[in-house]
Amino acid sequence: MKRKTLKGALTGVVSTAMACAVAAEALAAAVPTGMMLPTANAATPSVVIYSTDFEDGDVSKFSKRGDNDTSVLAAVEEATAPSGSKVMSVTERSKGWNGPSFDCSTNLEPNVKYIISVKVKAQWYNNINVSLQHTTAGAAEPSYTNLTKGVSDGSWITLETSFSFPETDKDVSVYIEATDAVDLMIDDFTIATAPDNLDFDAPSLKDVYADYFKIGTACTAGELAPKTTQDLIKKHFNSLTAGNELKPENVLDKDACLAMAADGNDTDPQVTLNAARSILDFARDNHIPMRGHVLIWHQQTPLWFFKENYDEEGDWVSKEKMLERMENYIKNVFTLVKEEYPDIDFYAWDVVNECLVDSGTPRKPGFPAQDNQYAQSPWVQIFGDNSFIKPAFEFAKKYAPEGCKLYYNDFNEYMKTDAMIALAEEVNSDGHYLDGLGLQSHLDVSNNGDYDPFPTAAMYKKQLDKFCATGLDIQITELDATVENQNYEGQAQYYSDIMDAIVANKDAISAVVFWGTTDDQSWRADRDPLLFNKDYETKPCFDSIIDGIEYTAPESTTAPEPTTAPPTEPPTSPPSKDTVTWGDANVDGKVDLQDAVAILQFAALPTKYELPAMGVINADIVDNGTSGVNGIDALAIQMIDAKLLKTDQLPITKEELDSIK
Ligand code: GLA
Repeated sequence: MKRKTLKGALTGVVSTAMACAVAAEALAAAVPTGMMLPTANAATPSVVIYSTDFEDGDVSKFSKRGDNDTSVLAAVEEATAPSGSKVMSVTERSKGWNGPSFDCSTNLEPNVKYIISVKVKAQWYNNINVSLQHTTAGAAEPSYTNLTKGVSDGSWITLETSFSFPETDKDVSVYIEATDAVDLMIDDFTIATAPDNLDFDAPSLKDVYADYFKIGTACTAGELAPKTTQDLIKKHFNSLTAGNELKPENVLDKDACLAMAADGNDTDPQVTLNAARSILDFARDNHIPMRGHVLIWHQQTPLWFFKENYDEEGDWVSKEKMLERMENYIKNVFTLVKEEYPDIDFYAWDVVNECLVDSGTPRKPGFPAQDNQYAQSPWVQIFGDNSFIKPAFEFAKKYAPEGCKLYYNDFNEYMKTDAMIALAEEVNSDGHYLDGLGLQSHLDVSNNGDYDPFPTAAMYKKQLDKFCATGLDIQITELDATVENQNYEGQAQYYSDIMDAIVANKDAISAVVFWGTTDDQSWRADRDPLLFNKDYETKPCFDSIIDGIEYTAPESTTAPEPTTAPPTEPPTSPPSKDTVTWGDANVDGKVDLQDAVAILQFAALPTKYELPAMGVINADIVDNGTSGVNGIDALAIQMIDAKLLKTDQLPITKEELDSIK
C-alpha cells in the first residue's frame, strides 16, 4: 500500500543532515550576537540572541542559583579553552544543583523556540545537565525540566538542545549543573532562535487518515509555546494529549490539600488545571479533541498523596482512606474540566497507566526511583496488589465527561498482551467501566546502530491483531520509533510497516497518537523518533506513512496559512524619506539588534508583538512594499550589526542582499 523505495526521501535526509551539521558548527563557533545561522531554505532563519566566548571577560549575564548557591563565576585564562584563551570558571559549588544560570525571563521572549549550545568541562568525570527552571502559572514552587545531558570525563563536551516557554511561566532560567559539586568550565555559550521550515503545503495527516481514525500528538506547555508548533498541530492533528500537565503531580494542589488537611479533612484532594491551562486553552480555541492523561499512575504522583495528612514523612494511609482519596481525586478532576472547559471534547482518558511489568504481573510495593521504568508502585504498597484498578474505573465511569471513553494504558504492550486483555476483562467482570486499551507503542528501529527493529513489524502486528479481536476500543497512545546513525530510510520503512498493521485493524482503532511534535522536543530526542525534525521539516517517515493512501483534502486545511505578518496597508500619503528611518522597527531612533528581535516577534505573532505603525513602515527594508515585514528584514538588520551592510544602503532588494551574504 505504501511505497517501498525512498529515493526522494533520501535527498531530503542529506540536505537536512547537512543543514543540522552546519547550524551546530556555527553555534559551536560562538558567532557574534545577531548573526544569522545558515539553514536550508529557512522560512524564518535562526538568529543569535546572545553569544559569548568570554574573551571580553564579561560573565554578568550568568548568576548563581539563589542565595544558597555558593558558586563563584569568573572569566579566567584557560589553556584548554575551546575558543580563544578564556572561559567562565564555576568554582566553590557546594551542591550538584549549583549554578551557573542564565535568566530567560529578562533576556529572552516567551513563545519563541530557542536553540542553546554550550561547551562544558567538569573537573573530573561527571554527568552534566542543561535544564530549565520555570514557575508555571499559579504554582508556588518552581519546576525543573532537564533539556539535555552529557558526560564530561574531565574534558570538554558540547551540549545542544532547544527549548521554549509560554508567557504564563515566570522566573524562567536555563542552568548548567553537574551530579556532584565539582568545578566547571563553560565556553562558547550561544542562544539563537530556532529556524522554522514548516511546510504548509504538505498533506495534513489528519486529513489523510480522516476515514480511519484520529491522528494525535502529545505536547508539553513549553513545547506548545512557539507559534510554529501551534501551526504544526493545527495542520496535522485532531487529538491532543498534555505531555505532563494533566498528571497528578501537576493537577494536585498541594497547598489547598494541606489547608484542608489542617481542617481535619485529608480525603478530598484539591486539584487545579493551572499547569495545563495553555494547552487546554489552545485545544478549546482550535476545537481540537483531547485525550486526558493520566489519573492513576505510580510515576509523576507525589509521595505525600499516599501519606497520612499529606505529610511525605508520615505513615502510608490505609486502603480505605486511599479509596476515598481516589474517588474524590477522580471526581474533582472531572468536575473541574467540565466546569472550566465545557467546550473541549475530552473523547478519551487514561484512567490507569502502567500497572503491569513485562511479565504481566503487578509492580512491587514502594515509591518509584527516578528514571526506573520497572519502578515500584505506591498504589501496590497500599493495596497489596493491583486491586485498585477496578475501583478507579468505576469512579471514572461515574464522573467522566459525557462521551469520554476510559482506557487502561501501558508500554511494551506487545509483550504483555494477554495480561492486559485479562486486566480489562477483570475490570468489566460485573459491568462496563473500561472502554478500551491504550497501547503506548514506544518502538525502536535500531539496535547498536543496525536496522534491527524491536518489536519487529510482524510481532507488533500479531499482538495488535489480538488486541483488536477483543472487541475493546484500541488506541495507539504514545507512538514513536527511535533511530540511530540517522538511518531515516530504515525508520521510514519501519513506520510504514507499523502503520500498515494499524490500518489493517482500522475498524477496532479509534486514535493513533504520536508522543511529541518535533524530534528535538521528544523524551527520546537523542534518537530522532518522530515525523518532524527540529526545524519542523517532514522526515522520510512522514512521507512513508501517507504514501499511497487515497484521501480527499478539504479546502480549508490545504490553503497555506501566513507565516509572516501580512503586507501593511499603504499609508494614505506615502511616507517620505524624511519620515522613514529604515530599519528602526521599534521607533527608538536607532537601528540595532533590538529591531531585528522586534521584527522576528512581529512576524511570528503580529497580534501579540505589535509594532508601531511607523515601525511597520520602517521595518519593511528588503523588497520594500512586496513581501511585508518578515525574517529577511530581520536578517538585513543582523547584517548591519555585523557591519556587512550600512543603513544608507536601505531599502535593499533580496537579490542585492544575497550578493552581500
Ligand atoms: C510513559 C507515560 C507518558 C510519558 C512517557 C515518557 O509512556 O505514559 O506519560 O511520561 O512515558 O515521556
